Amino acid sequence: MNNASTATTLHPSEINAEPVSALASGTLSAFGTTPTPTETPSDAQLGQSATNLDASLKAEIIRVVGITKRVTTTDGELVIVNNAHFTVKQGEAVAIVGASGSGKSTLLGLMAGLDIPSEGEVSIAGESLFALDEDGRAKLRGRLVGFVFQSFQLLPSLTALENVMLPLELSGVADASKRAADILARVGLQARVKHYPKQLSGGEQQRVAIARAFVTEPKLLFADEPTGNLDAKTGRSMIELLFELNRERGTTLILVTHDLGLAARCDRRLSIDAGVVTEER
Ligand SMILES: Nc1ncnc2c1ncn2[C@@H]1O[C@H](COP(=O)(O)OP(=O)(O)O)[C@@H](O)[C@H]1O
Ligand SMILES: [Mg+2]
Repeated sequence: MNNASTATTLHPSEINAEPVSALASGTLSAFGTTPTPTETPSDAQLGQSATNLDASLKAEIIRVVGITKRVTTTDGELVIVNNAHFTVKQGEAVAIVGASGSGKSTLLGLMAGLDIPSEGEVSIAGESLFALDEDGRAKLRGRLVGFVFQSFQLLPSLTALENVMLPLELSGVADASKRAADILARVGLQARVKHYPKQLSGGEQQRVAIARAFVTEPKLLFADEPTGNLDAKTGRSMIELLFELNRERGTTLILVTHDLGLAARCDRRLSIDAGVVTEER
């Protein structure tokens, strides 16, 4: 596969421009590098070990400060996200719920640095997203973030395996093929690795998209209505998969969803109504 030519067609979030560090080989359970709460180091230890990324992220992985997104339309100015403030801790599962058109996808894009706010700031792992340029944001995402789009956004000319390998190949990881195959097996698609997206069902494509988002070991997974296009049974197995990955690897989940069952499984629910975000209690 020619990386140079395919890279130009990629969405920025699909490009993992930095080497993936310490990718465990083998099965997904081997990815579980996040310390459990009982292993959390003291503040003094943290101070001594600036390189202990997992521990330093434990407290807070994302901070949203006064995020506002305005757009100008033919009908005048529209405020899509209105002065949102919240933080998310590492390992938390957060549901973002709200009616269609309330601003959920826009909020998710702003949190991942895929969209630029009119005002406000988002920090991921202490790094201020909008102080970075687009290239810097892409590198940060490559290091820490996975994103599952509502529309999957698989590349049609690549097989399932190649789609999942792509973020690893772009980072120059040596055994991308084996790692991609392992995670595809983990999502139950070992018999579909050579299929192209159009040869896969919606649920299978969604699983490939989730495998692609997870293969770089993100600390933070954003998913926009991950069960929205799926039948009930496939949707349930997708939810199980997301929470297994959350448990096994301590991955923070930020899930936009209409699915009340999925929202109930999350640790927290943020509700958005006409761009105004509130914590549901
Ligand atoms: N770039 C844009 N220009 C104008 N309106 C937009 C733009 N992006 C989103 N919107 C509008 O903002 C509202 C929220 O959109 P969105 O975040 O996609 O909502 P949700 O994901 O909750 O359905 C919708 O009314 C949508 O039409
Ligand atoms: Mg949406």
